[in-house]
Amino acid sequence: MRIEFQARNYTDLACDLLAYPVFENEARESPSLKALDKATRGVAGTVLSTGEFKPELHRACLIHRPARLKARRLVLVGAGKEPEFSLGRLREVAGTAVRVARQSRCKSVALLMRGGFPAPESTQVSAEGALYGNYESEIYKTRDIETRDVEEVVLLSERRTRRSDAGEGIRRGAIVGNAVNFARTLGNEPANVLTPSQLAEQALSLVARTGLEVQILERADMERLGMNTMLAVSRGSDQPPKLIILRIPEQKSRKDAPLFALVGKGVTFDSGGISIKPMEKMEDMKADMAGGAAVLAAMSALAELGPKHPVMGIIPSAENLPGGKATKPGDIVKSYAGKTIEIISTDAEGRLLLADALAYARTLGATRLIDVATLTGACVVALGHIYAGMMGTDQEILERLRCGSRITGERFWQLPLDDDYRKDIRSEIADIKNVGNRWGGAITAAKFLQEFVENTPWVHLDIAGMDIDHDGRPYAAKGATGFGVRTLIHLFT
Ligand code: BES
Ligand code: ZN
Ligand code: ZN
Repeated sequence: MRIEFQARNYTDLACDLLAYPVFENEARESPSLKALDKATRGVAGTVLSTGEFKPELHRACLIHRPARLKARRLVLVGAGKEPEFSLGRLREVAGTAVRVARQSRCKSVALLMRGGFPAPESTQVSAEGALYGNYESEIYKTRDIETRDVEEVVLLSERRTRRSDAGEGIRRGAIVGNAVNFARTLGNEPANVLTPSQLAEQALSLVARTGLEVQILERADMERLGMNTMLAVSRGSDQPPKLIILRIPEQKSRKDAPLFALVGKGVTFDSGGISIKPMEKMEDMKADMAGGAAVLAAMSALAELGPKHPVMGIIPSAENLPGGKATKPGDIVKSYAGKTIEIISTDAEGRLLLADALAYARTLGATRLIDVATLTGACVVALGHIYAGMMGTDQEILERLRCGSRITGERFWQLPLDDDYRKDIRSEIADIKNVGNRWGGAITAAKFLQEFVENTPWVHLDIAGMDIDHDGRPYAAKGATGFGVRTLIHLFT
């Protein structure tokens, strides 16, 4: 998809579809709407004033052959309430415009970027949204396929804009948007295709394109290093585990600057293992590597954008299956950090992988830790599919994550982490056990992870329930969402 910026009046721009965001309760007499009304010979004003079209967020109204516009079609896109309009919403509006275009088989789209945001940001999020909206997940259909991809997007501004600002915004938006879509593709891939080895191959394939440095630890390396929780999780599967390490070369840093490690859960399929899951929706567990995909995608984008803090990525990847050699409930393993773990449920495998990966990140010199994982169903029970959970000991980052959602559109809600929760994962026989009781499961999972970060400032993002969108959105196809990628990039740019 080509994306460009043009500073000109929308009336004389020839394209298949012109998208015009309209705010709820926007006065019909406002100069903008008056001009639009005139350009459509009264049609825009009529659909709004009759209530035929209510500009609620993401509703769209298609108007064919608008009288005084060069565009073949005009779509009014509901932008919600004006005071609530944000860069996050502008991104979604761009996505909605592109998806309307896909439905109407339009190849060229122009979007009027309203909201008065400065150019580098408005062009960036619009480009991101357009790429997000243009993505389709039907990769394995062999029949009735029809490419409806939008080929060209023109971003129009009502503000005076420096071309270089717009150009830079589009460049960044394309990098971020493609990274998010890359994570979505990984999430949508079935587990027979995307094994831990394939995830490692995907990481290696980024080397040439982005300059990312990639190192893969194999099973033998894990045995040598004593990464027994990694080994325990993968024991039931014929697929070997992989520990993927991502570095950005030549990161300029002061000696005392912190080194961040992004650690992403990369379970390419989670059957539960011997503690096997019920069949309902088990197929969704192909996306149990969404945290790993988010780290991989974010690191590839950061390699191109240049992060403002030194950062590395670590993705422990395994397949969790039952089998003759599989780990059993009651088994005890000694983690890389030296602590012994009683495995009560083999379905609480994510925290086992992360235990070794977090501890290893510290060995590699990381002084700040951020992990991203589809970790607990309990988090979905607590927050639904709207907010991801966040916990941790680095309150500054937690605060930045909370505030960042207006820009990234990805929402996080902090859950407590008091030491009182620790007693639920006390084991009679080992240092710790890998599950608590029924209550506060997202928190006890985080308490388990905390044992392995020790005193290193750390943030844990539980993105279970955010990885797949079964319904689709006006601005997005159904399927894997790529949740987390934008947030991770935003933290470092
Ligand atoms: N991958 C799952 C968590 C999950 C659930 C992700 C729903 C996405 C949607 C995780 O490995 C798991 O199975 N967790 C268990 C933990 C339990 C055994 C303590 C859970 O949440 O049931
Ligand atoms: Zn599990
Ligand atoms: Zn899992």
